[in-house]
Amino acid sequence: RSIRSAVTRGTSHLSRRGYGTEPVPERKVAVLGAAGGIGQPLSLLMKLNPLVSSLSLYDIAGTPGVAADVSHINTRSEVVGYQGEEQLGKALEGADVVIIPAGVPRKPGMTRDDLFNINAGIVKSLCAAIAKYCPNALVNMISNPVNSTVPIAAEVFKKAGTYDEKRLFGVTTLDVVRAKTFYAGKAKVPVAEVNVPVVGGHAGITILPLFSQATPQANLGDDEIKALTKRTQDGGTEVVEAKAGKGSATLSMAYAGALFADACLKGLNGVPDVVECSFVQSTVTELPFFASKVRLGKNGVEEVLGLGSLSDFEKQGLEGLKAELKSSIEKGIKFANQ
Ligand code: NAI
Repeated sequence: RSIRSAVTRGTSHLSRRGYGTEPVPERKVAVLGAAGGIGQPLSLLMKLNPLVSSLSLYDIAGTPGVAADVSHINTRSEVVGYQGEEQLGKALEGADVVIIPAGVPRKPGMTRDDLFNINAGIVKSLCAAIAKYCPNALVNMISNPVNSTVPIAAEVFKKAGTYDEKRLFGVTTLDVVRAKTFYAGKAKVPVAEVNVPVVGGHAGITILPLFSQATPQANLGDDEIKALTKRTQDGGTEVVEAKAGKGSATLSMAYAGALFADACLKGLNGVPDVVECSFVQSTVTELPFFASKVRLGKNGVEEVLGLGSLSDFEKQGLEGLKAELKSSIEKGIKFANQ
């Protein structure tokens, strides 16, 4: 205890930044699948986050090494590695945020839905453990197909009697990160100033970037907007093909996952006006889950924001994505209830 407060004091100039004299609360973050392609750089980035006091790294194999490595970094959080199912409970106990990048990634030629058979089972069992050991944690679902794994998680939590729609998030931040990068390149505006909402889901045409709402505004032509939309939707496939069988996006995903978890932690800590896009339970459309802008707060989702005004092209995209998104959601619900 005394050692820990000494460490906290030593980094207080960092961990208190932006919070006046309020101390930064203790927060435990668990990463499930921490030894994987996403899990490792994500664990690194969470170790660099001053809002984290305890970092719990879980995987079926390889976590002792990742945890030993990351733990030597001289930042605030304590790091513990947990390996194998018998240690999952300990990994989760007391977690405020659980990030899930566990499961297999795509190879060239595969859709995210091709991962369903393996990843659905992994997500189902991890969520059963979350319901048991940290039912109040905010869950950040990265494992694909997100359009189905989020509904699976919701069903598992409902069965356990722990479901709170404010605490379950499908991580679509990488779609936003890509939309911002591609837009900045085309519009020739500084990328750090760019904002683009991305709504819908997280696979192919269900990813709908709203470039008509992008800021700073630019006068891009219809063909340019179409091409930007397509590139955002196919961004994951671009990486899968470039990696030629060695997996999908890991580094940019780790960045996006760290960004979203940071937003969740800020919300929990009472920072006002934290807004990110995420795939959540929703009444924005007739579909039970939908990605849109979400205001984050002390209980997770504070408010699901509407879509705003859409261009005709975006309206078409919205109507065009609903059938696929609906069937992916239903597939997840059906699997969870088998
Ligand atoms: P990877 O194969 O490199 O790592 C996955 C890790 O999960 C491995 O270390 C494996 O041991 C672990 N794992 C498997 N079963 C587990 C279990 N039952 N409990 C805990 N850990 C388990 O894969 P990578 O590249 O890290 O991708 C992980 C997932 O993230 C994939 O499903 C991929 O499709 C998804 N993804 C999602 C994105 C998004 O935008 N939401 C973007 C990119 C990937």
